[in-house]
Order: sequence, then structure tokens, then C-alpha cells
Amino acid sequence: MANHRFSSVSEEEPCCNISKKTQICLCVFFGLLIAVIIAVPVGILMWRPPLKQWKGEGTTAHLYEILLGRCYTYTQIVRPELGHKDCQKIVKAFTKAFLSKDPCSSTEQDYQPLMELTDEPVPCNKTLFWSKSSELAHDYTRVRQDMFTLEDTLLGYMADGLKWCGDPGSSEMNYHSCPDWREDCSNNSFSVFWNTVSKRFAEDACGVVHVVLNGSIRNTFDERSTFGRVEVFNLHPEKVNRLQAWVMHDIGSVHSDSCSSSSINNLKQILKRRSITFSCQNNYRPIRLLQCVKNPGHSSCGSYI
Ligand SMILES: *[C@@H]1O[C@H](CO)[C@@H](O)[C@H](O)[C@H]1NC(C)=O
Ligand SMILES: *[C@@H]1O[C@H](CO)[C@@H](O)[C@H](O)[C@H]1NC(C)=O
Ligand SMILES: *[C@@H]1O[C@H](CO)[C@@H](O)[C@H](O)[C@H]1NC(C)=O
Repeated sequence: MANHRFSSVSEEEPCCNISKKTQICLCVFFGLLIAVIIAVPVGILMWRPPLKQWKGEGTTAHLYEILLGRCYTYTQIVRPELGHKDCQKIVKAFTKAFLSKDPCSSTEQDYQPLMELTDEPVPCNKTLFWSKSSELAHDYTRVRQDMFTLEDTLLGYMADGLKWCGDPGSSEMNYHSCPDWREDCSNNSFSVFWNTVSKRFAEDACGVVHVVLNGSIRNTFDERSTFGRVEVFNLHPEKVNRLQAWVMHDIGSVHSDSCSSSSINNLKQILKRRSITFSCQNNYRPIRLLQCVKNPGHSSCGSYI
């Protein structure tokens, strides 16, 4: 009996081994099948084509938060008369203008909803353009708080110094790279934004408008600059009486251009054709004083101090 029982157990063993192996096989098979059934659609849903690589630097980190913070700073503290503006809505319109879109075929229309939310009056006689003289022009409006460069208006203030772009295959910002104006494409989301806001800034200008130009470089008036390309051509002659240019020389530099130079004459001719009076002054004293504040020991500043 014992022997028989033993043999029957030993006879059962191969049978049980096969069925265990089969069970394991089936388990593994169905496990894999379920994994595949789940993984394939999830993979399809999760897969993102890689973001395009551009030559320019990518979107500024924390762009959304910076835009929102700057919007509140401007509308609550810098110009509280704009406190009614809806910063949440403005920043959403800002990012909606470029997210999920080809960053090389940006248009003025993309930014239209943003433009409508950020209209802002600049008083007549208070507009200050600049070209190749950013630092000095902004030093001046920091002191002359009644005057406005584009960067002293809400949108200019929000976007100053930032970079951004999206990607047509993704709803994310591209933090790795964005199109470079020269090397990738001219109608990129960033350049189109600045052209659009510069155009509106010039269209809104009235009375006597001012421009700070850099007399220490060769192209004091550069037709390819935003001022020369966009702003000059979007001034409205029926409300702009005169363009007053201030050609500023760096302290201690050899003058390369002045009001009598050919590039300034070119600006004068363009304005004449557009029926806008032009006047020009070298080293406008109030701005010269600011330059001297930064260079108090310089001999050319002696007469001021
Ligand atoms: C703008 O400046 C001109 C010329 O200096 C002056 O006649 C005019 O009254 C000024 N307009 C305003 C609104 O201040
Ligand atoms: C003129 O341009 C040069 C070169 O970009 C710059 O270093 C200088 O500060 C500018 N000067 C003025 C008056 O803006
Ligand atoms: C850029 O956009 C402007 C205005 O929409 C258009 O006239 C121009 O042809 C575009 N340039 C390029 C290189 O696509």
C-alpha cells in the first residue's frame, strides 16, 4: 500500500509540475497581455513629439509667475489708476497668444486679445522713444516719472527682458530654446510681440514726442531698429506736432554722430515726407546731468558740478 501510494504520488508529480508550469506560463502571458493592453493606449496618450530645437535662448523660467507678479506690481503700485485691470485675464491672454502655436508664424492677431485688455493712456507730450540708448532713456524716465518709454507702460513693463515661445506639438512653453530673430525666423512670437506693442505705443503718441538717440555709435538713426522700422512709421501726423530728438554722447567718448550727421538727416527727411516737424538737440542738458551723476570726476562734467 505504502509502495503503491508512493508510486501514485511519484506518478502525479510530473502531471502537477506541468500544470504548475502551465499556470505560471498563463499568468505571465495574461499579465503581459494586460500590460500591453494598458501600456499601448497610455503610451499613445502620453507620447509627446520632442520640442523643436532653435538657436535662441528658451522661455524664461517661471515666465507665468513673473508676468503675473509684474502685472500686479504695475497695476497696484506703479500706476494704481490701472488697478481695475484683471491681471489673471491679461496673463492668460499673453500666454494664449503663443502656446500650442508655431513660434515662427506668429501674427499681430495672436496678440490682439492681449492688446485689448491692456490699453493704457499715455498723456500727450510724455512719450519717450529710444534707440540703442535703452539704459540712459530708462534712467531718465526713472527720474522724470511723468514721461513714458514703452517699458514704462503695462505691457512693456511686464515683458521687459523676458523670452518666450511655444510649440505646435505641445501645450507647454519651450524652456529649452526659442527661434532667434536672425538665424531662425523674423516672425517669431517674441519679435512679433515687440513690433505689435511698439506700433501701438507710436500710434497712441500725441503732442510733442521725444526720442533719445545714441550719438556714440555710427548708425545713430538706424532704419532697421524698432524705432526706425516701426515707431517712426506709426506716428499719426494729425496728432503728433513734432518729434524732438536728443542725441546723447557717452561721457568721454569721441563723438561719432550728431544732429548734423547724415543718419539724422535721413530721419528728418522721413518725417518731412510724413508731415511731422522734426527738431534735434545734442547732449540735452537734463539727460547729460544724469550721465554726469555716474561720472562725477570726468572733465567734461566739470561745468555741471
Ligand atoms: C505739449 O507741448 C506743446 C509745446 O510745448 C504745448 O503747446 C502743449 O500745450 C502741450 N500739450 C499738453 C497736453 O501739455
Ligand atoms: C551707445 O551704445 C553703446 C554700445 O551699445 C553703449 O555702450 C552706450 O552706453 C550707448 N550710449 C548711450 C548714450 O546710450
Ligand atoms: C511676417 O509677417 C508679415 C506680416 O504678417 C508678413 O508681411 C511677412 O511676409 C512675414 N514674413 C515672413 C518671413 O514670413
